[in-house]
Formats: sequence, C-alpha cells, structure tokens
Amino acid sequence: MSVTRRRFLQQSGMISAGLMIPQAMRNRQMPPVRPLLDPNSLTQFVDPLPIPEFAQASGYRPSPTEPTAKLPYYRFAMRQIESKVHRDVKPTRLWGFGSSSPGPTLETRSGQGLLVEWENELPTAHFLPIDHNIHGAETDKPDVRTVVHLHGAKAPPESDGYPESWYVPGKSALYHYPNNQDAAMLWYHDHTLGINRLNVVAGLLGVFLIRDSVEDSLNLPSGKYEIPLVIYDRMFDAQGQLYYPVSPDPKSPWIPEYFGDAILVNGKLFPYLEVEPRKYRFRVLNGANGRFFHLSLSSGQSFHQIGSDQGLLAAPVSLDHLLLAPSERADVIVDFAEHAGEQIVLKSDAFTVMQFRVARNKTTDTSSLPSALRPVPKIPESEAAKTRMLSLSEIDDRAQNPVTMLLNRAHWSMPVTENPVLNSVEIWNLINLTDDSHPIHLHLVRFQILDRRRFEPFFYKNQGVMKYTGPAVAPDPNEAGWKDTVRADPGMVTRIIVRFEGFVGRYVWHCHILEHEDNEMMRPYDVIAAR
Ligand code: C2O
Ligand code: CU
Ligand code: CU
Repeated sequence: MSVTRRRFLQQSGMISAGLMIPQAMRNRQMPPVRPLLDPNSLTQFVDPLPIPEFAQASGYRPSPTEPTAKLPYYRFAMRQIESKVHRDVKPTRLWGFGSSSPGPTLETRSGQGLLVEWENELPTAHFLPIDHNIHGAETDKPDVRTVVHLHGAKAPPESDGYPESWYVPGKSALYHYPNNQDAAMLWYHDHTLGINRLNVVAGLLGVFLIRDSVEDSLNLPSGKYEIPLVIYDRMFDAQGQLYYPVSPDPKSPWIPEYFGDAILVNGKLFPYLEVEPRKYRFRVLNGANGRFFHLSLSSGQSFHQIGSDQGLLAAPVSLDHLLLAPSERADVIVDFAEHAGEQIVLKSDAFTVMQFRVARNKTTDTSSLPSALRPVPKIPESEAAKTRMLSLSEIDDRAQNPVTMLLNRAHWSMPVTENPVLNSVEIWNLINLTDDSHPIHLHLVRFQILDRRRFEPFFYKNQGVMKYTGPAVAPDPNEAGWKDTVRADPGMVTRIIVRFEGFVGRYVWHCHILEHEDNEMMRPYDVIAAR
C-alpha cells in the first residue's frame, strides 16, 4: 500500500485505531523526542463535558457602514492559558480566547450586525514547531502572529481575516460581521499565513451561532437541550503538553498531516454528558486539522441530521454514521427517549469520543423534529456564467513524500486566477489528482454540491484530457443543503455550484487540512464588480 493511500485510509477513519500506523512511522515524521501520553491509559468519562460560555457584548459602537447605528461590540482576547484536558493529566498550556479553548460561543441573529475586537495578547514566543521554509513564515516574520477568520460568514473582505493581515502581540483588529445570512453554526479560528495549523492546534478556535425566525418556528430542542460538540484530535506528551511532530529534516519541520490519538470534545478528553431521556440538538463541528470523523452511537441507534455547514437541510436525514471532514458541521437531533438509564458512547470508528449518561426518569419533551425544515432551492446549472476546471495536486519528493500541495497548479503568491463577478453563478470542478480526500472551503459564499464523478487522473495529468470512468454520483442526502466546505474525494471530480454574493473584494479558497493549507493549498480569489 502506498504511503498516500495509507494516509487516505487513515484520515477517512477506515483504518481503525487498533490498526493505526504508529505516528513515528508515518512519512516524514521524526520519532518523538519525549515520551508521549497514551490516552488509552487514562480512565474514561471522569470529566463532565464543558460547554463554552456565551460571549457577552461589552457595549455598543457605531456601525462602520451606518455611523448613526450602534452595533454590539465584543472583545475576544487571545491569551496563553492552562487547561485541564482530563482529571489525571497535568494542566496543558493552550492558546485560547479569554480563559478557554474553545473560546466563548458568540450567539447572534440573522441581520444583527456586530463588531468584534480580536486582541492578540499572546506571548511573543511560539511553543509549536514553525517551519521557516513555508512561505509567509520566513525567519524575518515574527513567530507569534494571529488573524481570526469567521468560517462561514458572509463578511466584508476587510473583516474576513485575510491570511496576510496578521498582527503581533499587543495589537488587535476590529472586525464587522453584518450577519446577513441564514441561521447556521459558524466557527472562528486563526488563519495566519504559514502557521495556521500551529495556531489552531494551540487552541485558537470557537463557535459562532446565527439564529433566525425559520429556526425559531421549528420548535427544535433548545436551551440546555442544545449543545455544541467541537471535536478535534491532539497529541500530548507524558507531561500533558501538546505535541506536534516534525519531519526528519530540521530545516523543514512541516509534516503533511497531523493526526492525534487523543480525541477531545469542547477541550476535554473522554468527557461524559448527563442527558434526559428525550431529544437533544447537537451542533457538531469537526475542528481537527486533518482527521475525518465517522461518528456513531454504541447503542446502535440512528439519529437525524437537520443541518449542514450553512444551515438547515430541506428535511431531516436519518443516519447511523456521520462522516465529517475537517471544518464540516452537522446539526443533529438525537433522541434518548428509548434509552433511559443507559450509558451510550459516541465513537469515531474505533476511537472513543465521549459518553452520554441517560437519566432513568422520563421527562416531558415538548420539542419537535419537524419533517420539513427549510426549502433549499436548487441553483439551476443553466444559470452558471462560467465553469472552471480546478485541479488539486501534490508534488512529491523522490521518496514519494509530499512536499507541497497545489490548487490549480498555482502557488499562493501567483496572480489571482479565480475572479468571479459579483452575483454571478459559477460551477467549479474540483479535479482531485491526489490519493487524499481534501475538504475544500471557499470564504464568503455558500454553495451546493452538484455531483462527484470518477475520472482517469493519468490522462488528465499527462494529456489534459478529462476521461470519466463512472457515472456522476449525487451528493449524500446530508450534503444536499447549503455548504461551505466539500469533500473532494481522490480520483473524483467534485462539482459545486456557487453564487458569489455579498461583497466585492479579495478572499481565499483552500483545503481545510491545515497542513495542506499552510503549504500552498490555498489561493486568493477576487469577487469583481460587474462591468
Ligand atoms: Cu475555516 Cu479559510 O477557513
Ligand atoms: Cu472560511
Ligand atoms: Cu488537502
């Protein structure tokens, strides 16, 4: 089995934990210099699931677009903190927002604009291994730099967290989020050019919820029955500190993917949650750098997905497994009514994620799981003003180790090639020439997945000829809503249809495997005004 094929199997969860390739043996990784924590040596389910607190506005400030209007003003300070990831693990140094990682949850309503001051109050030394060969992270750049992006937001370009708009400790950026978009679970995270993967592993992420009247009218489980589950994997050393592996080349420590064996939910390892025998709404985010989660319940029960990245699906989709690529979100209803008194484990294939302890006593559940949620009108293909063919490729060294990943064969610093006209519709063909699945994300917009189709990469690479070898496959039912991140599977052309609405200006599109994104798998794009 080739190294890359193995990587795909591992990232997609098809290699179970037991069969997993030891991290040190993976391509381009040095064996760890210090002993690592074995999460399986820890007692499971001793810590309650933490729920990040809601952010509170610290006043009002004039709107940048209508100075007579005042908008809620929030301050989010990025700070070095210590956090207990497990009862029996020493406090872990993390970078969080305020006093936690994930940071506070910001909750707002569609159409309610707000301002966030993202303050960099971090120390001036980084604690994870920077690769100064990666462009944007050269030795003349300060080690500690941050810029925050609100993933899924229809935000003006100057508030989007452009990767080059980073700033150093002691500085801040005031961003305006108009929130003129449907109810959805967004998330904020660092986006600094060249060190994004490290800043996110350090802990710079959090949840941002937009509500609206359609969601209100559905009578979904709410309040204490609606719970965010931010899931990501990490590696720890025996002292409980974050461990990020390096390549064998001290001059280029970058590794092609980061896979940890410790799965955290809202910042805890193996937490438990006490639930009542009734319906719950879980807002699930895959916040991992590279790991795909494949979630199921040990009770074998099915559950319903009611929303994806950009909000509600047209109708609930019944699932017994949920596949989530990095940065994808799922809005899920789980009904524990038939499981009073049981202990149910949330698993990702062979990994234990967390436990639900269902109370014995029945309570009344007045919430609903409506059979229709929100219509998702299909964007007709005939509306597309342009179709783009965009390859995803990987450059390997002689030993077949990946060195760089590219979009459309272009590096970050090359001139913009994707420049859709404001309000126009385009079809993007994501032509995956690699052996990995890449979750592709576009800033600013929401889109729909048209289909995926198997093709012959050899002909495309060598002769530029597109030869399909299978029929076009419709997206999975739980992908058939509004998306902002899509799995571009290996050997497939994935087609998405996008209307470029909102703002004119410079944005980015990229692979959300953060190691790939940092190493060239990200491109600027421009939304341009109609002439
Ligand atoms: Cu989750 Cu470019 O972002
Ligand atoms: Cu984004
Ligand atoms: Cu990728």
